[in-house]
Amino acid sequence: MARSPLVVGLAGSPRRHGNSEQLLDAFLEGARGAGAEVRKIPVVELGLTPCRGCNACSSTGECVLRDRMSEIYGALDAADAVVVGSPVFFATVPGVLKVAYDRCQPYWARTHVLGLPKPTRRPGALLLVRGGGDPYGFRSAVEPTKSVFAVLGLDMVGLLKVAGPDSPSDMGRRPEESEHARELGAALVEAVPEGA
Ligand SMILES: Cc1cc2nc3c(=O)[nH]c(=O)nc-3n(C[C@H](O)[C@H](O)[C@H](O)COP(=O)(O)O)c2cc1C
Repeated sequence: MARSPLVVGLAGSPRRHGNSEQLLDAFLEGARGAGAEVRKIPVVELGLTPCRGCNACSSTGECVLRDRMSEIYGALDAADAVVVGSPVFFATVPGVLKVAYDRCQPYWARTHVLGLPKPTRRPGALLLVRGGGDPYGFRSAVEPTKSVFAVLGLDMVGLLKVAGPDSPSDMGRRPEESEHARELGAALVEAVPEGA
């Protein structure tokens, strides 16, 4: 029997169980309903050390920092599809998530410096929530995510942008957004190639 596809979800907010994580939970519920195994990683819990820009990974393809980023590397390497759920903080993603993005530099070094094969293409999705208190929108949170997705071989097949929720109870008043996230979760599983 074929194994279930693995969907990895990165929760990018420093606030646990807030609006973006609730959206991510709905998405992962949809993915599970479509037959996937799901694994959620709340990035803030890992206490990641920022990339030092030492470029050691350009020689070895590996990060010299020894911390719980290894859990994200392992999950990303095993994933058939990846979803990121994040709030917008000062027009981009929160620092905790950006640290994880920066720590993906070894993937860039492997293909762009060391000439190793590109990762197998897989579907990815992004769920963003913003309070809406500034005029800058979602764009500067989408772009860094697209940049890291490109390095990881992830094709953005789902993008959900929700403006308005601010206090963590606000998402509970937006059941249509959670339903949309559930549908996107199921669609992500459908986008995983046969036999992945
Ligand atoms: C430090 C900080 C910066 C924020 N910056 C923005 C922003 O630039 N634009 C915006 O629309 N909302 C901004 N917000 C509001 C959050 O996006 C909003 O509260 C969101 O619902 C939080 O999601 P979470 O519960 O998943 O953390 C900011 C909130 C914080 C705490």
